[in-house]
Amino acid sequence: MTAPREQFGSRLGFILAAAGSAVGIGNLVGFPVNAAKNGGAAFLFIYALFVFLICLPVMMAELAAGRNSQKNPLGTYRFFANGHKLWPIAGWLALITPFMIAVFYGVITLWVLGYLFAILGGNLQELADPDYFGEFINSGQVYALLALIAAIVGVILKFGVKDGIERAAKIMMPSLFVLLLGLVIFVLTLDNAVAGLRFYLIPDFSKIDASVINGAMGQAFFSLSLGMGILITYGSYMNRGASISGSAKLVALTDTAVAFTAGLMILPAIFAFNPDIDTEELSSSSVALIFTFLPKIFLAMEGVAGYTGASAVAAIFFLLVFFAALTSLVSIIEVPVSGVMDQMCYSRKKALLIVGLGIALFALVCALSFGIVEFFTHFLHYGGADKSVFDLVVDVFYDTILPLNGFLICIMVSYRWKKSNFDRELEQGAPDYKGSLLERYTNLALGTFIPVILLLVFINTVLTKFFGVNLI
Ligand code: TRP
Repeated sequence: MTAPREQFGSRLGFILAAAGSAVGIGNLVGFPVNAAKNGGAAFLFIYALFVFLICLPVMMAELAAGRNSQKNPLGTYRFFANGHKLWPIAGWLALITPFMIAVFYGVITLWVLGYLFAILGGNLQELADPDYFGEFINSGQVYALLALIAAIVGVILKFGVKDGIERAAKIMMPSLFVLLLGLVIFVLTLDNAVAGLRFYLIPDFSKIDASVINGAMGQAFFSLSLGMGILITYGSYMNRGASISGSAKLVALTDTAVAFTAGLMILPAIFAFNPDIDTEELSSSSVALIFTFLPKIFLAMEGVAGYTGASAVAAIFFLLVFFAALTSLVSIIEVPVSGVMDQMCYSRKKALLIVGLGIALFALVCALSFGIVEFFTHFLHYGGADKSVFDLVVDVFYDTILPLNGFLICIMVSYRWKKSNFDRELEQGAPDYKGSLLERYTNLALGTFIPVILLLVFINTVLTKFFGVNLI
Protein backbone atom coordinates (compact mmCIF):
# COMPACT_ATOMS: atom_id res chain seq x y z
CA MET A 1 0.00 0.00 0.00
CA THR A 2 1.44 3.37 -0.91
CA ALA A 3 0.80 6.46 1.19
CA PRO A 4 -2.10 8.65 0.01
CA ARG A 5 -1.10 11.40 -2.38
CA GLU A 6 -0.05 14.66 -0.79
CA GLN A 7 -2.48 17.58 -1.04
CA PHE A 8 -2.53 21.30 -0.69
CA GLY A 9 -3.98 22.29 2.66
CA SER A 10 -6.27 25.08 1.53
CA ARG A 11 -7.67 26.82 -1.50
CA LEU A 12 -5.71 29.97 -0.73
CA GLY A 13 -2.56 27.89 -0.34
CA PHE A 14 -3.06 26.37 -3.76
CA ILE A 15 -3.74 29.74 -5.37
CA LEU A 16 -0.65 31.31 -3.83
CA ALA A 17 1.51 28.36 -4.84
CA ALA A 18 0.23 28.39 -8.42
CA ALA A 19 0.50 32.17 -8.63
CA GLY A 20 3.97 31.90 -7.12
CA SER A 21 4.89 29.58 -9.92
CA ALA A 22 3.44 31.89 -12.54
CA VAL A 23 4.84 35.17 -11.24
CA GLY A 24 8.49 35.38 -12.23
CA ILE A 25 11.11 37.53 -13.81
CA GLY A 26 9.00 37.82 -16.95
CA ASN A 27 6.21 39.52 -15.01
CA LEU A 28 8.41 41.92 -13.14
CA VAL A 29 10.60 43.09 -15.98
CA GLY A 30 9.72 41.44 -19.29
CA PHE A 31 6.07 42.39 -19.39
CA PRO A 32 6.45 46.10 -18.48
CA VAL A 33 9.17 46.69 -21.03
CA ASN A 34 7.39 44.77 -23.78
CA ALA A 35 4.23 46.71 -23.08
CA ALA A 36 6.03 50.06 -23.15
CA LYS A 37 7.66 49.24 -26.46
CA ASN A 38 4.64 47.76 -28.13
CA GLY A 39 1.76 50.12 -27.69
CA GLY A 40 1.27 50.50 -23.93
CA ALA A 41 -2.29 49.84 -22.86
CA ALA A 42 -2.99 48.41 -26.32
CA PHE A 43 -0.46 45.66 -25.58
CA LEU A 44 -1.98 45.08 -22.15
CA PHE A 45 -5.40 44.70 -23.74
CA ILE A 46 -4.19 42.07 -26.21
CA TYR A 47 -2.19 40.31 -23.52
CA ALA A 48 -5.25 40.11 -21.26
CA LEU A 49 -7.34 38.75 -24.11
CA PHE A 50 -4.80 35.97 -24.64
CA VAL A 51 -4.63 35.21 -20.94
CA PHE A 52 -8.35 34.70 -20.62
CA LEU A 53 -9.35 33.40 -24.06
CA ILE A 54 -6.40 31.12 -24.86
CA CYS A 55 -4.42 30.44 -21.71
CA LEU A 56 -7.18 29.98 -19.14
CA PRO A 57 -8.74 26.95 -20.92
CA VAL A 58 -5.28 25.33 -21.26
CA MET A 59 -4.65 25.97 -17.58
CA MET A 60 -7.94 24.31 -16.67
CA ALA A 61 -7.11 21.36 -18.93
CA GLU A 62 -3.76 20.78 -17.21
CA LEU A 63 -5.21 21.07 -13.71
CA ALA A 64 -8.18 18.81 -14.48
CA ALA A 65 -6.02 16.16 -16.15
CA GLY A 66 -3.68 16.09 -13.15
CA ARG A 67 -6.46 15.98 -10.58
CA ASN A 68 -8.21 13.19 -12.42
CA SER A 69 -5.14 11.00 -12.92
CA GLN A 70 -3.62 11.83 -9.52
CA LYS A 71 -0.22 11.56 -11.15
CA ASN A 72 2.80 13.45 -12.46
CA PRO A 73 2.77 14.47 -16.17
CA LEU A 74 4.26 11.21 -17.47
CA GLY A 75 1.88 9.17 -15.34
CA THR A 76 -0.99 11.39 -16.50
CA TYR A 77 -0.29 10.84 -20.19
CA ARG A 78 0.13 7.10 -19.61
CA PHE A 79 -3.12 7.03 -17.66
CA PHE A 80 -5.08 8.60 -20.49
CA ALA A 81 -3.12 6.82 -23.24
CA ASN A 82 -4.64 3.61 -22.04
CA GLY A 83 -2.17 1.44 -23.91
CA HIS A 84 -1.74 3.74 -26.87
CA LYS A 85 1.96 3.73 -27.81
CA LEU A 86 2.61 7.33 -28.81
CA TRP A 87 1.01 9.39 -26.04
CA PRO A 88 3.62 8.50 -23.39
CA ILE A 89 6.16 10.33 -25.59
CA ALA A 90 4.23 13.51 -24.86
CA GLY A 91 4.45 12.52 -21.19
CA TRP A 92 8.24 12.27 -21.40
CA LEU A 93 8.36 15.68 -23.04
CA ALA A 94 6.25 17.09 -20.20
CA LEU A 95 8.81 15.70 -17.74
CA ILE A 96 12.05 16.60 -19.54
CA THR A 97 10.90 20.15 -20.31
CA PRO A 98 10.57 21.23 -16.67
CA PHE A 99 13.86 19.52 -15.84
CA MET A 100 15.67 21.57 -18.46
CA ILE A 101 13.84 24.81 -17.64
CA ALA A 102 14.88 24.31 -14.01
CA VAL A 103 18.47 24.10 -15.22
CA PHE A 104 18.62 27.54 -16.81
CA TYR A 105 16.18 29.23 -14.43
CA GLY A 106 18.36 27.99 -11.58
CA VAL A 107 21.29 29.82 -13.15
CA ILE A 108 19.30 33.06 -13.44
CA THR A 109 18.07 32.71 -9.86
CA LEU A 110 21.60 32.34 -8.57
CA TRP A 111 22.61 35.52 -10.40
CA VAL A 112 19.75 37.39 -8.73
CA LEU A 113 20.88 36.17 -5.33
CA GLY A 114 24.47 37.15 -6.14
CA TYR A 115 23.34 40.69 -7.01
CA LEU A 116 21.29 40.91 -3.84
CA PHE A 117 24.34 39.98 -1.75
CA ALA A 118 26.52 42.42 -3.66
CA ILE A 119 24.09 45.28 -2.99
CA LEU A 120 23.81 44.37 0.68
CA GLY A 121 27.62 44.43 0.78
CA GLY A 122 27.57 48.05 -0.41
CA ASN A 123 28.62 47.36 -4.00
CA LEU A 124 25.80 48.97 -5.98
CA GLN A 125 28.34 51.28 -7.60
CA GLU A 126 30.23 48.29 -9.04
CA LEU A 127 27.06 46.62 -10.29
CA ALA A 128 26.25 49.69 -12.36
CA ASP A 129 29.50 49.23 -14.31
CA PRO A 130 28.66 47.68 -17.70
CA ASP A 131 31.47 45.15 -17.37
CA TYR A 132 30.40 43.84 -13.99
CA PHE A 133 27.85 41.30 -15.22
CA GLY A 134 30.27 39.59 -17.59
CA GLU A 135 32.88 39.29 -14.86
CA PHE A 136 30.40 38.20 -12.22
CA ILE A 137 28.93 35.30 -14.20
CA ASN A 138 32.40 33.93 -14.80
CA SER A 139 33.63 34.35 -11.25
CA GLY A 140 34.10 31.69 -8.60
CA GLN A 141 31.07 33.01 -6.71
CA VAL A 142 28.68 31.17 -8.98
CA TYR A 143 29.61 27.77 -7.53
CA ALA A 144 28.87 28.84 -3.98
CA LEU A 145 25.63 30.53 -5.07
CA LEU A 146 24.54 27.44 -6.99
CA ALA A 147 25.11 25.33 -3.90
CA LEU A 148 23.13 27.81 -1.80
CA ILE A 149 20.17 27.85 -4.20
CA ALA A 150 20.21 24.06 -4.34
CA ALA A 151 20.12 23.96 -0.54
CA ILE A 152 17.21 26.44 -0.26
CA VAL A 153 15.09 24.70 -2.91
CA GLY A 154 16.03 21.33 -1.45
CA VAL A 155 14.83 22.27 2.02
CA ILE A 156 11.51 23.66 0.72
CA LEU A 157 10.79 20.60 -1.41
CA LYS A 158 11.91 18.16 1.26
CA PHE A 159 9.00 19.35 3.42
CA GLY A 160 6.57 18.32 0.72
CA VAL A 161 3.51 19.92 -0.79
CA LYS A 162 1.72 21.37 2.21
CA ASP A 163 4.55 22.11 4.63
CA GLY A 164 7.08 23.00 1.95
CA ILE A 165 5.70 24.44 -1.28
CA GLU A 166 2.50 25.84 0.18
CA ARG A 167 4.12 27.29 3.29
CA ALA A 168 6.92 28.92 1.28
CA ALA A 169 4.35 30.48 -1.06
CA LYS A 170 2.29 31.73 1.88
CA ILE A 171 5.32 33.58 3.20
CA MET A 172 6.94 34.75 -0.02
CA MET A 173 3.92 35.79 -2.08
CA PRO A 174 2.39 38.24 0.41
CA SER A 175 5.90 39.65 1.02
CA LEU A 176 6.27 40.04 -2.71
CA PHE A 177 2.99 41.97 -2.97
CA VAL A 178 3.99 44.29 -0.13
CA LEU A 179 7.49 44.96 -1.50
CA LEU A 180 6.08 45.60 -4.96
CA LEU A 181 3.47 48.05 -3.72
CA GLY A 182 6.06 49.81 -1.58
CA LEU A 183 8.33 50.29 -4.58
CA VAL A 184 5.46 51.51 -6.75
CA ILE A 185 4.51 54.14 -4.19
CA PHE A 186 8.11 55.28 -3.81
CA VAL A 187 8.75 55.48 -7.54
CA LEU A 188 5.56 57.41 -8.24
CA THR A 189 6.71 60.19 -5.93
CA LEU A 190 9.78 60.87 -8.11
CA ASP A 191 9.87 63.80 -10.55
CA ASN A 192 9.14 62.78 -14.12
CA ALA A 193 7.43 59.57 -13.03
CA VAL A 194 4.41 60.71 -15.00
CA ALA A 195 6.37 60.59 -18.26
CA GLY A 196 6.93 56.87 -17.66
CA LEU A 197 3.29 56.31 -16.80
CA ARG A 198 2.26 58.06 -19.96
CA PHE A 199 4.48 55.82 -22.02
CA TYR A 200 3.20 52.75 -20.25
CA LEU A 201 -0.48 53.47 -20.19
CA ILE A 202 -1.50 55.52 -23.21
CA PRO A 203 -2.67 53.02 -25.82
CA ASP A 204 -1.10 53.17 -29.26
CA PHE A 205 -2.87 50.70 -31.47
CA SER A 206 -0.70 51.62 -34.47
CA LYS A 207 2.16 49.67 -32.86
CA ILE A 208 0.17 46.46 -32.93
CA ASP A 209 1.29 44.18 -35.74
CA ALA A 210 1.61 40.44 -36.24
CA SER A 211 4.89 40.19 -34.38
CA VAL A 212 3.56 42.15 -31.38
CA ILE A 213 0.56 39.83 -31.26
CA ASN A 214 2.84 36.81 -31.43
CA GLY A 215 4.98 38.28 -28.65
CA ALA A 216 1.97 38.94 -26.42
CA MET A 217 0.78 35.38 -26.95
CA GLY A 218 4.17 33.92 -26.06
CA GLN A 219 4.51 36.11 -23.01
CA ALA A 220 1.07 35.16 -21.72
CA PHE A 221 1.60 31.46 -22.29
CA PHE A 222 5.00 31.30 -20.61
CA SER A 223 4.01 33.55 -17.79
CA LEU A 224 1.18 31.29 -16.67
CA SER A 225 3.44 28.22 -16.27
CA LEU A 226 1.67 26.43 -19.11
CA GLY A 227 3.23 23.54 -21.02
CA MET A 228 5.70 22.92 -18.20
CA GLY A 229 3.90 20.07 -16.47
CA ILE A 230 3.61 22.24 -13.36
CA LEU A 231 -0.15 22.62 -13.44
CA ILE A 232 -0.67 18.91 -14.15
CA THR A 233 1.43 18.17 -11.08
CA TYR A 234 -0.21 20.83 -8.90
CA GLY A 235 -3.60 19.64 -10.16
CA SER A 236 -2.78 16.18 -8.84
CA TYR A 237 -2.37 17.74 -5.37
CA MET A 238 -5.70 19.56 -5.55
CA ASN A 239 -8.62 18.65 -3.39
CA ARG A 240 -11.63 17.20 -5.24
CA GLY A 241 -13.84 19.70 -3.44
CA ALA A 242 -12.00 22.72 -4.86
CA SER A 243 -13.18 24.56 -7.92
CA ILE A 244 -10.63 24.29 -10.72
CA SER A 245 -12.19 26.98 -12.87
CA GLY A 246 -12.53 29.42 -9.96
CA SER A 247 -8.96 28.88 -8.79
CA ALA A 248 -7.55 29.06 -12.32
CA LYS A 249 -9.28 32.40 -12.89
CA LEU A 250 -7.75 33.80 -9.71
CA VAL A 251 -4.28 32.58 -10.62
CA ALA A 252 -4.52 34.14 -14.09
CA LEU A 253 -5.80 37.37 -12.61
CA THR A 254 -3.06 37.55 -9.97
CA ASP A 255 -0.36 36.89 -12.53
CA THR A 256 -1.67 39.60 -14.85
CA ALA A 257 -2.15 42.05 -11.99
CA VAL A 258 1.44 41.58 -10.81
CA ALA A 259 2.76 42.07 -14.34
CA PHE A 260 0.69 45.22 -14.72
CA THR A 261 1.67 46.59 -11.31
CA ALA A 262 5.36 45.94 -11.98
CA GLY A 263 5.08 48.32 -14.92
CA LEU A 264 3.95 51.06 -12.55
CA MET A 265 7.33 50.69 -10.86
CA ILE A 266 9.78 49.95 -13.69
CA LEU A 267 8.76 52.53 -16.28
CA PRO A 268 8.39 55.56 -14.01
CA ALA A 269 11.76 54.62 -12.46
CA ILE A 270 13.41 54.51 -15.87
CA PHE A 271 11.87 57.79 -16.98
CA ALA A 272 12.55 59.61 -13.73
CA PHE A 273 16.27 59.10 -14.19
CA ASN A 274 16.50 59.06 -17.98
CA PRO A 275 13.80 61.49 -19.08
CA ASP A 276 14.97 61.43 -22.69
CA ILE A 277 15.09 57.70 -23.10
CA ASP A 278 13.64 56.21 -26.24
CA THR A 279 11.97 52.95 -25.25
CA GLU A 280 13.26 51.35 -28.43
CA GLU A 281 16.68 51.46 -26.79
CA LEU A 282 15.56 49.18 -23.98
CA SER A 283 16.72 45.64 -24.55
CA SER A 284 13.95 43.14 -24.98
CA SER A 285 15.89 40.65 -22.90
CA SER A 286 14.79 40.56 -19.27
CA VAL A 287 18.20 39.27 -18.31
CA ALA A 288 20.06 42.22 -19.84
CA LEU A 289 17.62 44.63 -18.22
CA ILE A 290 17.84 43.21 -14.74
CA PHE A 291 21.56 42.73 -14.58
CA THR A 292 22.95 45.61 -16.54
CA PHE A 293 20.35 48.31 -16.99
CA LEU A 294 18.42 48.45 -13.72
CA PRO A 295 21.48 48.72 -11.44
CA LYS A 296 22.29 51.96 -13.27
CA ILE A 297 18.79 53.24 -12.63
CA PHE A 298 19.08 52.41 -8.95
CA LEU A 299 22.45 54.10 -8.70
CA ALA A 300 20.98 57.23 -10.28
CA MET A 301 18.64 57.46 -7.27
CA GLU A 302 21.68 58.45 -5.24
CA GLY A 303 20.87 62.08 -5.96
CA VAL A 304 17.47 61.94 -4.25
CA ALA A 305 17.97 59.17 -1.74
CA GLY A 306 21.73 59.05 -1.01
CA TYR A 307 23.90 55.98 -1.62
CA THR A 308 22.38 54.04 1.24
CA GLY A 309 18.83 54.89 0.16
CA ALA A 310 19.57 53.92 -3.43
CA SER A 311 21.12 50.67 -2.24
CA ALA A 312 18.08 49.98 -0.06
CA VAL A 313 15.70 50.42 -2.99
CA ALA A 314 17.90 48.20 -5.16
CA ALA A 315 18.08 45.56 -2.44
CA ILE A 316 14.29 45.54 -2.06
CA PHE A 317 13.91 45.16 -5.81
CA PHE A 318 16.34 42.25 -5.99
CA LEU A 319 14.71 40.58 -3.00
CA LEU A 320 11.39 40.88 -4.82
CA VAL A 321 12.84 39.32 -7.96
CA PHE A 322 14.49 36.63 -5.85
CA PHE A 323 11.18 35.64 -4.22
CA ALA A 324 9.48 35.58 -7.60
CA ALA A 325 12.21 33.45 -9.15
CA LEU A 326 12.46 31.09 -6.18
CA THR A 327 8.74 30.22 -6.09
CA SER A 328 8.89 29.52 -9.84
CA LEU A 329 11.99 27.37 -9.43
CA VAL A 330 10.41 25.37 -6.62
CA SER A 331 7.33 24.66 -8.70
CA ILE A 332 9.26 23.51 -11.71
CA ILE A 333 11.62 21.21 -9.80
CA GLU A 334 8.64 19.59 -8.08
CA VAL A 335 7.57 18.20 -11.49
CA PRO A 336 10.51 15.82 -12.08
CA VAL A 337 10.61 15.09 -8.34
CA SER A 338 7.00 13.92 -8.38
CA GLY A 339 7.76 12.05 -11.61
CA VAL A 340 10.54 10.05 -10.00
CA MET A 341 8.48 9.49 -6.83
CA ASP A 342 5.48 8.13 -8.75
CA GLN A 343 7.19 6.20 -11.49
CA MET A 344 9.97 4.60 -9.46
CA CYS A 345 8.07 4.45 -6.15
CA TYR A 346 10.92 6.30 -4.42
CA SER A 347 10.57 8.35 -1.27
CA ARG A 348 10.45 12.13 -1.62
CA LYS A 349 13.93 12.35 -0.14
CA LYS A 350 15.49 9.92 -2.57
CA ALA A 351 13.70 11.42 -5.59
CA LEU A 352 14.78 14.89 -4.53
CA LEU A 353 18.38 13.82 -4.20
CA ILE A 354 18.49 12.22 -7.66
CA VAL A 355 16.67 15.05 -9.45
CA GLY A 356 18.53 17.73 -7.51
CA LEU A 357 21.94 16.31 -8.37
CA GLY A 358 20.95 15.98 -12.03
CA ILE A 359 19.72 19.56 -12.26
CA ALA A 360 22.72 20.94 -10.39
CA LEU A 361 25.06 19.12 -12.75
CA PHE A 362 23.38 20.49 -15.87
CA ALA A 363 23.12 23.94 -14.27
CA LEU A 364 26.86 23.81 -13.67
CA VAL A 365 27.45 23.10 -17.37
CA CYS A 366 25.24 26.09 -18.23
CA ALA A 367 27.05 28.29 -15.72
CA LEU A 368 30.35 27.32 -17.34
CA SER A 369 29.10 28.20 -20.81
CA PHE A 370 29.65 31.97 -20.60
CA GLY A 371 33.35 31.83 -21.26
CA ILE A 372 34.87 29.64 -18.57
CA VAL A 373 34.78 26.51 -20.73
CA GLU A 374 35.27 27.22 -24.42
CA PHE A 375 33.56 24.03 -25.62
CA PHE A 376 30.31 24.86 -23.77
CA THR A 377 30.52 28.53 -24.75
CA HIS A 378 30.62 27.97 -28.51
CA PHE A 379 28.66 24.78 -28.39
CA LEU A 380 26.65 24.95 -31.61
CA HIS A 381 26.00 27.24 -34.53
CA TYR A 382 22.44 27.77 -35.75
CA GLY A 383 20.02 30.55 -36.63
CA GLY A 384 23.00 32.63 -37.80
CA ALA A 385 24.95 32.75 -34.54
CA ASP A 386 27.22 30.78 -32.20
CA LYS A 387 25.25 29.43 -29.29
CA SER A 388 26.32 28.37 -25.82
CA VAL A 389 24.80 25.46 -23.94
CA PHE A 390 22.75 28.01 -21.96
CA ASP A 391 21.38 29.56 -25.18
CA LEU A 392 20.56 26.13 -26.54
CA VAL A 393 18.60 25.13 -23.43
CA VAL A 394 16.64 28.41 -23.44
CA ASP A 395 15.92 28.25 -27.18
CA VAL A 396 14.82 24.64 -27.19
CA PHE A 397 12.97 24.24 -23.94
CA TYR A 398 11.70 27.68 -23.03
CA ASP A 399 10.96 29.17 -26.42
CA THR A 400 10.14 26.19 -28.60
CA ILE A 401 8.83 23.18 -26.74
CA LEU A 402 6.32 24.94 -24.48
CA PRO A 403 3.74 25.71 -27.18
CA LEU A 404 4.15 22.15 -28.48
CA ASN A 405 3.44 20.78 -25.00
CA GLY A 406 0.40 23.08 -24.82
CA PHE A 407 -0.82 21.78 -28.17
CA LEU A 408 -0.43 18.17 -27.00
CA ILE A 409 -2.36 18.70 -23.76
CA CYS A 410 -5.27 20.31 -25.66
CA ILE A 411 -5.48 17.38 -28.08
CA MET A 412 -5.08 14.80 -25.35
CA VAL A 413 -7.79 16.28 -23.16
CA SER A 414 -10.24 16.98 -25.99
CA TYR A 415 -9.88 13.81 -28.03
CA ARG A 416 -8.27 11.14 -25.88
CA TRP A 417 -9.77 11.80 -22.48
CA LYS A 418 -12.91 13.24 -24.08
CA LYS A 419 -14.76 16.40 -23.27
CA SER A 420 -17.55 14.80 -21.27
CA ASN A 421 -15.01 13.37 -18.79
CA PHE A 422 -13.16 16.66 -18.70
CA ASP A 423 -16.40 18.47 -17.92
CA ARG A 424 -17.24 16.05 -15.17
CA GLU A 425 -13.88 16.65 -13.51
CA LEU A 426 -14.35 20.42 -13.71
CA GLU A 427 -17.83 20.23 -12.28
CA GLN A 428 -16.48 18.52 -9.15
CA GLY A 429 -16.18 21.22 -6.56
CA ALA A 430 -17.78 23.74 -8.92
CA PRO A 431 -21.42 22.83 -9.51
CA ASP A 432 -22.08 26.19 -11.15
CA TYR A 433 -19.56 25.36 -13.88
CA LYS A 434 -22.10 23.05 -15.52
CA GLY A 435 -23.83 24.87 -18.34
CA SER A 436 -21.82 28.06 -17.79
CA LEU A 437 -20.54 30.23 -20.58
CA LEU A 438 -16.98 29.32 -19.61
CA GLU A 439 -17.78 25.64 -20.00
CA ARG A 440 -19.24 26.09 -23.45
CA TYR A 441 -16.39 28.31 -24.53
CA THR A 442 -13.70 25.99 -23.13
CA ASN A 443 -15.18 22.95 -24.81
CA LEU A 444 -15.31 24.67 -28.14
CA ALA A 445 -11.93 26.38 -27.98
CA LEU A 446 -9.83 23.60 -26.49
CA GLY A 447 -10.55 21.18 -29.30
CA THR A 448 -10.38 23.68 -32.15
CA PHE A 449 -8.64 27.02 -32.44
CA ILE A 450 -6.47 26.97 -29.31
CA PRO A 451 -4.39 23.95 -30.45
CA VAL A 452 -4.22 25.41 -33.95
CA ILE A 453 -2.82 28.69 -32.60
CA LEU A 454 -0.31 26.87 -30.38
CA LEU A 455 0.84 24.72 -33.28
CA LEU A 456 1.34 27.81 -35.43
CA VAL A 457 3.36 29.49 -32.68
CA PHE A 458 5.48 26.34 -32.42
CA ILE A 459 6.13 26.14 -36.17
CA ASN A 460 6.89 29.83 -36.39
CA THR A 461 9.38 29.61 -33.50
CA VAL A 462 11.17 26.62 -34.99
CA LEU A 463 11.53 28.39 -38.34
CA THR A 464 12.69 31.65 -36.79
CA LYS A 465 15.04 30.27 -34.16
CA PHE A 466 16.68 27.44 -35.98
CA PHE A 467 16.37 28.27 -39.66
CA GLY A 468 16.44 32.04 -39.64
CA VAL A 469 13.14 32.15 -41.58
CA ASN A 470 10.66 34.76 -40.42
CA LEU A 471 7.06 33.99 -41.29
CA ILE A 472 5.52 37.05 -39.66
N1 TRP B 1 6.27 33.52 -15.08
C1 TRP B 1 7.66 33.11 -15.17
C2 TRP B 1 8.46 34.31 -15.52
O1 TRP B 1 7.83 35.28 -15.80
C3 TRP B 1 7.79 32.08 -16.20
C4 TRP B 1 7.56 30.86 -15.53
C5 TRP B 1 6.36 30.34 -15.26
C6 TRP B 1 8.53 30.02 -15.01
N2 TRP B 1 6.53 29.18 -14.58
C7 TRP B 1 7.85 28.97 -14.41
C8 TRP B 1 9.90 30.04 -15.00
C9 TRP B 1 8.52 27.97 -13.78
C10 TRP B 1 10.57 29.03 -14.36
C11 TRP B 1 9.89 28.02 -13.76
O2 TRP B 1 9.66 34.29 -15.48
